[in-house]
Amino acid sequence: MDVKQVLHMNGGSGDTSYARNSTIQSIIASLKKEVRQSEAVESYRSSSPDCLKIAELGCSSGKNALLVASEIIDAVEQNCLREGCSPPDFLILLNDLPSNDFNSVFSLLSDQLQCEPRRNCFAYGVPGSFYGRLFPSQSLDFVHSSSSLHWLSQVPRDICDQLNAPLNKGKLYISKTTPDEVLEAYYSQFEEDFSHFLKCRAEEMVDGGRMMLTFMGRRIGEEAHSSESCYHWDLLAQALMDMTNEGFFPKEKVDSFDAPYYAPSVEEVKKVVLSQGCFTINVLEAFAASWNALQNDESGNGEENREYKAGHAGRMANCVRAVAESMLVSHFEEHIMEEVFNRYQNLLEDYYLKNKPQVTNVVVSLVRNPRKAL
Ligand SMILES: C[S@@+](CC[C@H](N)C(=O)[O-])C[C@H]1O[C@@H](n2cnc3c(N)ncnc32)[C@H](O)[C@@H]1O
Repeated sequence: MDVKQVLHMNGGSGDTSYARNSTIQSIIASLKKEVRQSEAVESYRSSSPDCLKIAELGCSSGKNALLVASEIIDAVEQNCLREGCSPPDFLILLNDLPSNDFNSVFSLLSDQLQCEPRRNCFAYGVPGSFYGRLFPSQSLDFVHSSSSLHWLSQVPRDICDQLNAPLNKGKLYISKTTPDEVLEAYYSQFEEDFSHFLKCRAEEMVDGGRMMLTFMGRRIGEEAHSSESCYHWDLLAQALMDMTNEGFFPKEKVDSFDAPYYAPSVEEVKKVVLSQGCFTINVLEAFAASWNALQNDESGNGEENREYKAGHAGRMANCVRAVAESMLVSHFEEHIMEEVFNRYQNLLEDYYLKNKPQVTNVVVSLVRNPRKAL
């Protein structure tokens, strides 16, 4: 799979669009709003530039694309008001892969960022992979990315030739039965990608600039094949395998699909940042996010609880569809998608009756170390 070509969230604003099915990603971002605002203000205060340059990496489409930038602008403006200085201009650089629905992001610019005339705020789209250079040297003050860096640049392929077998037989991603060498291959791909990502951003950021990244991950000590980390892929694989048993398509189709995805642990993230060496870690932790982040998860029992959990299953199925459908369509047939995701929703409903409807994320906030004088 050529990830750059194939991966894109469902565009537009229809029922299966990312714009309409990305509530969990907006909750993930909102859970770290205060940390992010204070990190952005610190990055402004460290050099008080006339123009604060902010990059949003993996912006996708829908309201989330501009949400963080607008909150950062608010925080920096309030800081300037308190300190009696005039706010800087803001340059918002919105990055995603070229097949992203940038047009729908641009159509929200005036509403969400209220660019002109109230603010000197300018926004540009930057198509390209964040696993390569995207911006000029020392040009960025603050970098943000949410719910994106768990996507690898590619599926770890070399290991398939060594194993002479499918990477994830009957599955789409790591699972309980994954052999150690495959786990290692996924980790190596993450290590290579994340290290390269840090190297590129280190070139692009000013000294003292800050970068906050949030992505699917694992708690300290949690294994890569824990069910908490893999259940959304496991159940999707089960829906597809059930369909192969009913003759929809041969099971080799499932064997040969592998998600270019990795949910790293807190320790793995720390290891890569430290060995890359250009950043100091300010914040690093795992946190859980669920649709009822602000409510008691145990509310209701019996039928009421079942309905309540079914709601989560529906939202999760729609969210995974909006995210993964482009990849599945490129490998399976488009007309089976409705069937796949109906089955997936039923499996999630059963899963959430016994398990918490939540996802684990890692947040890491980094400061660009000063470059050594020549
Ligand atoms: C789940 S969306 C997250 C969107 C948004 N940040 C949010 O929080 O709702 C992940 C986005 O990352 C993008 N992405 C994945 N790999 C990428 C890469 N190598 N370079 C740039 N964007 C990438 C995808 O295209 C997708 O739009």
